[in-house]
Amino acid sequence: MRDRMRALTFEVIARAVFGVEQPARIEQLRRALVGVLDRQWVALLPRALQRDLGPRSPWGAFQARLRAADALLYEEIARRRDAPDLDERTDVLSLLLRARDEDGAPMTEAELRDELMTMLLAGHETTATALAFAFDLLPRRPKALARLRDELAAGEDAYLDAVVSETLRLRPVIDANQRKLTKPRTIAGWELPAGISVYPAIAVVHRRADLYPEPDAFRPERFLDGRTESYAWLPFGGGVRRCIGAALAQAEMAEAIRAIVSRVGLRPVRGQPDHVVMRGVTLVPRHGVPVEVARTA
Ligand code: HEM
Repeated sequence: MRDRMRALTFEVIARAVFGVEQPARIEQLRRALVGVLDRQWVALLPRALQRDLGPRSPWGAFQARLRAADALLYEEIARRRDAPDLDERTDVLSLLLRARDEDGAPMTEAELRDELMTMLLAGHETTATALAFAFDLLPRRPKALARLRDELAAGEDAYLDAVVSETLRLRPVIDANQRKLTKPRTIAGWELPAGISVYPAIAVVHRRADLYPEPDAFRPERFLDGRTESYAWLPFGGGVRRCIGAALAQAEMAEAIRAIVSRVGLRPVRGQPDHVVMRGVTLVPRHGVPVEVARTA
């Protein structure tokens, strides 16, 4: 499911951010950007190895992939700049091209490239992984799946939203976000000096039994009972740097789950839920959630 969901969420973000709709173009962009993503571990190499020692060296290969992805992004920017319908378009790239700062200056090519790269990279793998987790958890709770189907058939979305929230609670894709204190602060009795890094531990908060009874169980119903205390549910972080794509990601997850469970039957292939492992900076299902798909009656 994770691979399938990656293709899907990439198409969504490419269309929303770029307004690109031709399948061949989307695939070309996807390959180039996945090539970069799959090599992002080189950023963790010691400084001495972060040098281009030719195309076979890790850093050299990464730089080559980055250049290839950049070339496509700059090409897309140039193409859009010349589009006759630029003024009417609503995709993010067109909006950024029309934006002007307080002195009337447009964004530079490099600024546009950075925004696009950030949104494409931050915006598709995370959502795909979250969806894969949903399809690992949901089919293992046949009652929850049946209730979801019934409510969707009746035109009710509350349970669908609860499934999304509960998936992100039990399987947060980012386990902790980082903050550096600019001022000394006392947190839960700990006196922390300025300059220290603090990691609000998303995954730990989400498993607190005082906030979520039976915290290890997948129970979407818990989100129907009322609002959770703010900061008890924080898969998208919080404060001024909270995830900019949170609303899009949740809407996307809900629509993908709706379409899939309404049309096909899903059966887990593995006896137990996939182990959660760290890959890069995200938590992912180790085996990518294999499922058996069947046509529903
Ligand atoms: C289920 C999917 C997603 C999850 C779990 C997720 C999670 C996160 C988290 C935890 C942060 C850090 C927030 C903080 O430091 O407080 C973040 C930041 C960010 N996310 Fe997401 N995200 C998801 C989807 C998306 C999507 C679809 C987009 C693209 C539109 C996106 C774009 C970003 C950006 C640009 C930032 C940096 C914001 C900033 O530093 O100001 N994310 N995300």
